[in-house]
Amino acid sequence: MSYKIAVIPGDGIGPEIISQGLKVLDKVGQMYGHTFEYNTLLAGGCAIDATGEPLPNETIQVCKKSDAVILGAVGGPKWDTLPGNMRPEQALLGLRGQLGLFANLRPAVIYKELIDACPLKPEIVGDSIDIMVVRELTGGIYFGERGRRLGIKGQEAYDTEAYSVGEVERIAKIAFEIARKRNKRVTSIDKANILESSRLWREVVTDISSNYPDVTLDHLYVDNAAMQLIRAPRQFDVIVTSNMFGDILSDEASMITGSIGMLPSASLGENSFGLYEPIHGSAPDIAGQDKANPIATVLSIAMFLRYTLNLEREAQTVENAVNRVLEEGYRTGDIMSPGKTLVGTNKMGELITEKLSKI
Ligand code: IPM
Ligand code: MG
Repeated sequence: MSYKIAVIPGDGIGPEIISQGLKVLDKVGQMYGHTFEYNTLLAGGCAIDATGEPLPNETIQVCKKSDAVILGAVGGPKWDTLPGNMRPEQALLGLRGQLGLFANLRPAVIYKELIDACPLKPEIVGDSIDIMVVRELTGGIYFGERGRRLGIKGQEAYDTEAYSVGEVERIAKIAFEIARKRNKRVTSIDKANILESSRLWREVVTDISSNYPDVTLDHLYVDNAAMQLIRAPRQFDVIVTSNMFGDILSDEASMITGSIGMLPSASLGENSFGLYEPIHGSAPDIAGQDKANPIATVLSIAMFLRYTLNLEREAQTVENAVNRVLEEGYRTGDIMSPGKTLVGTNKMGELITEKLSKI
């Protein structure tokens, strides 16, 4: 089969990690008989420089005609002082909103080979941590009404958190479906002791859970959840939560794995279309120096194969190759430890490509 992919390298280390990801994908294509046709598009800071806006219309139009989007990272200090609606990050919100990508899947997994990088005590970690954070991505306070106004206390600013029943239902279903393929536990995280939107969230998630009697549902308040993630992370299987809580908790979950340079993500809509990107940012301090870890991008490619194309074997082929390279002791700087072999971005991509082996 032939597939159309919109490629958005973005800023900072984006272009270098993306080229490693595509190298791996091309080899997988050759091995299993798929062709991938790439359209390289602008978004983020480089789009601001080239066109004056973070998300040119052409980018959106081409994405809409593609089977999936693969994105590197956007942003950097050069664009940090621009007004809110002109910042590179606006490209991400625009892509998510305009492409209807309401479900953000962020796995936080500790790799056996990298367990020493985990900042938690060994007795807390046990032999592994494997959490899937399912973050609602196109609703809540990031998309609600906002503004400035004259209030009774003087000038003020406001942002609004609102969730509709339908928005909560669809994200809850995704979380339960994913839990079914894992350890069958969903933890829904909210602030229902204070927020009305959270009370609705909790009601709707509970309603949906009746269709999944094989999956256990728990609810936690977000402050408690933030603590539990550090205190006893192994209690979590699938976490489902709102846009803002998911933004915060997914960073926390990725940190407990100790290797944010390893973590991929998928943003999905109603059908199989998706946007795939590493969780980490554009790391401008190391851009262009062949130091970035391309593994999160390579694993995002595996998620693309799994979730958009439904090619489980191909996805596992990629994940196995990453594991093999780690087992053989190759490391980029961010995951380096004594006795291992330090390699650059390009070499890491080559090693993974070499280790791909058909299953
Ligand atoms: C993320 C990022 C984005 C978000 C920013 C860059 C807009 O933090 O993907 O988690 O808040 O969603
Ligand atoms: Mg974030």
